[in-house]
Amino acid sequence: MATKFADRMQTVHRSFIREILKVTEDPSIISFAGGLPNPELFPVEAMRKAASDVLAESGKEVLQYSTTEGYQPLRKFIADRYKSEKGIEVDPEDILLTTGSQQCLDLLGKVFLNSGDRVIIERPGYLGAIQSFSFFQPEFVTVGLENDGPDLNELEKILAMDKVKMFYAVPNFQNPSGLTYSAEKRKAVAELMAESDTLFIEDDPYGELRFMGEHQTPLSKGYLKDNCVLLGSFSKIAAPGFRLGWVVAESEVRDKLVIAKQASDLHTSTVSQRIMYRFMKDNDIDAHIEKIRERYRRQRETMVECIEKYFPEGVEITKPEGGMFLWITLPEGMSSMDLLDTAVAHKVAFVPGRPFYVDGSGENTFRLNFSNSDEEHIEEGIKRMADCLKDFFSAKK
Ligand SMILES: Cc1ncc(COP(=O)(O)O)c(C=O)c1O
Repeated sequence: MATKFADRMQTVHRSFIREILKVTEDPSIISFAGGLPNPELFPVEAMRKAASDVLAESGKEVLQYSTTEGYQPLRKFIADRYKSEKGIEVDPEDILLTTGSQQCLDLLGKVFLNSGDRVIIERPGYLGAIQSFSFFQPEFVTVGLENDGPDLNELEKILAMDKVKMFYAVPNFQNPSGLTYSAEKRKAVAELMAESDTLFIEDDPYGELRFMGEHQTPLSKGYLKDNCVLLGSFSKIAAPGFRLGWVVAESEVRDKLVIAKQASDLHTSTVSQRIMYRFMKDNDIDAHIEKIRERYRRQRETMVECIEKYFPEGVEITKPEGGMFLWITLPEGMSSMDLLDTAVAHKVAFVPGRPFYVDGSGENTFRLNFSNSDEEHIEEGIKRMADCLKDFFSAKK
């Protein structure tokens, strides 16, 4: 049977994180491994009401097939929010609603990538993008992330190479590192991109989850005028179960994305779109997002404080101003894969860093999620991690 699989299947693997999540199903394990929002913040009652109202008032329409582009009032709502929250002009016609923002990656791969094209990805980079683009058999080229964004010298050299089709970037509270591009880096990256033919893909599912520091303008629309697409998602501000995201793209690109989407799934669930719109319209979404920010700020502060208190010397951490993750770097030569075995024995889990590096480096790094554990579990989990790190450090001496 294996001889029948397409060549492309040889280069794509099961998501490493989904595999780890199986281990952490044991309820006695405190897991910082998943990338899950805090379910206590899901607006269950308001969603129940929105679903009931929509079905009662327009059931026949809501349960019918619909257009590929998506529900127009929801596209307008997203465009209005870009204006009010970020001060950028987006034409609702340029928005294509998708089945999660994850689908945008698949569609962009279908529309732009030939086998052997180069794709720039951050080092470390989002695993879901690596998996999605891998189906199109590109050559990944990585650009290192510094505390304020990509290494500009590296980026400039890569952009001078042949067949560099796209640069995939997560400029706000990146998954996995939690890092954010500064205003200066945004400007500098935009200048480099503007001189090249490479498409800039700006993935921004966490932008609204800033709980400290200053708001940053998206590169697309804010600094770059064309040859860019901007991705967004309802997963982290409402609920991921709806599988609702979007891409902002000018008409030529959008037309091609629409064709690819028609072939993939005709359109995104009409039921999801209509309920989400109703929820957004009938509730104070700003107050809801503020509640998420406030909770994640406390969880992130607890995690950072506990790491600083309990972890041994020599461990470096990022201190994100938003989002759901922070990133740990162990001293050179240590393996977070080995550490994971010890950690699971101590009933705590995280995601080792290596899968986030397409060049095979990052052995001494790992990702911690702070959004999906309360403060009590964060403190207990970090203490358990600290115990295994101390054992690990002394075994390495
Ligand atoms: C950077 C990034 N992009 C895209 C996604 C996919 O999100 P969605 O639920 O909108 O498909 C995630 C999910 O964790 C993510 O971290």
